[in-house]
Amino acid sequence: MKYTDRINRLTGTAEDSWAVYKLARQMIDQGHDVIELAIGEPDVPAPDYLIDTAINALQSGRTTYSTGEGEPGLRRALSKRYTRTTGRQITDDQILCFPGTQTALFAAIHAIAGPGDQILVGDPMYATYDVVFQASGAEVVRIPLRAENGFRMAAEDLRAAVTPRTTAIFINTPHNPTGAVLSLQDLEEIGAVAQEHDLWLLSDEVYDEMLYPGATFHSPLELPELAERTIVVNSISKSHAAPGFRSGWCVGSPSFCQHLLPYSEAMLFGNQPFIADATERAVSAPSPVAQGMAARFAARADRLAARLQGDTNLNVHKPQAGMFALIDVSGTGLNGRDYAFDLLRNGGVGVMPGSSFGPSLENWVRLSLTKEDALFDEACERIVKHAQLCIA
Ligand SMILES: Cc1ncc(COP(=O)(O)O)c(C=O)c1O
Repeated sequence: MKYTDRINRLTGTAEDSWAVYKLARQMIDQGHDVIELAIGEPDVPAPDYLIDTAINALQSGRTTYSTGEGEPGLRRALSKRYTRTTGRQITDDQILCFPGTQTALFAAIHAIAGPGDQILVGDPMYATYDVVFQASGAEVVRIPLRAENGFRMAAEDLRAAVTPRTTAIFINTPHNPTGAVLSLQDLEEIGAVAQEHDLWLLSDEVYDEMLYPGATFHSPLELPELAERTIVVNSISKSHAAPGFRSGWCVGSPSFCQHLLPYSEAMLFGNQPFIADATERAVSAPSPVAQGMAARFAARADRLAARLQGDTNLNVHKPQAGMFALIDVSGTGLNGRDYAFDLLRNGGVGVMPGSSFGPSLENWVRLSLTKEDALFDEACERIVKHAQLCIA
């Protein structure tokens, strides 16, 4: 049977990115001693009060249809939260609820870019996003995020890449996989490019509460001059260790939300009130788990950097936020993919090749900081031993 171009475009695209991870899982299933640091999930369960709120809501009949926009209580809680965090008045009609950041982004991108258009996206990027952008039919124009610039997107690189076909700039702050956090000045400079060329500015802020000591988060929503063109997507997946709730949202201008609503309704036919009730509680107060996770992940990134420095020719880029650290493996003479396969087969540690996130990380690997301390430290020892014995 025949499939559409849209489906054919996506078939098989992401497979190679996950090859090392899949082999690691296979080796573990076969009984090999492998520490898997390729992917990361929050290292604590979702807080009890979220689960209790969802259960109570289910038991009290919150199982009816909702609206396409999302439950009024949740939209109000989110508008209050964003009014507080951005210092600007954000209203309920600027919020649409979605099952997760990824769905919110999927819907938003279809509203602002399609076949023939170009979207400017930092390279590297979160591995599944390439497919999300490709689904829209728009061309993804990769803007290299350079290690020497702390992997932060530079306005002059964007400016050089804009063409008459460009419709949007996508940013992700804090960034996966690099852990970079954009400053307010970065956002002003990126925003100026969006204004000059009348572009949308789409921001994934899913790690906004997972900041390491010393880092400060800013959103383009703080900048009034960007109000009509800014769209933010976010969720409780990371901030509340609740990825399985699939509860996210987008924030945009009232007009943007109005335009997106029929598309969102066509996809989802409304939201789930019991999930909305739990999310409303989640976003109404500071997360009880985000800071602890950030502190543990920051400490592990520090230990990794300290352990590898001196004893190996591997260089750790210290993240400012999030759940991952990057290692530059160019000193080994191998590219990231070959290094990752070698480390898995001969060192017993599974990491993601940087190239899974884009060509600019060809000589890097990413590892997750979410495994408990003893296992993480054992992984560091294995990486050192592998560097000394296998590829020295
Ligand atoms: C940058 C980034 N955005 C979005 C997501 C997915 O978020 P959600 O669970 O809210 O769809 C992830 C998950 O790892 C991520 O790293």
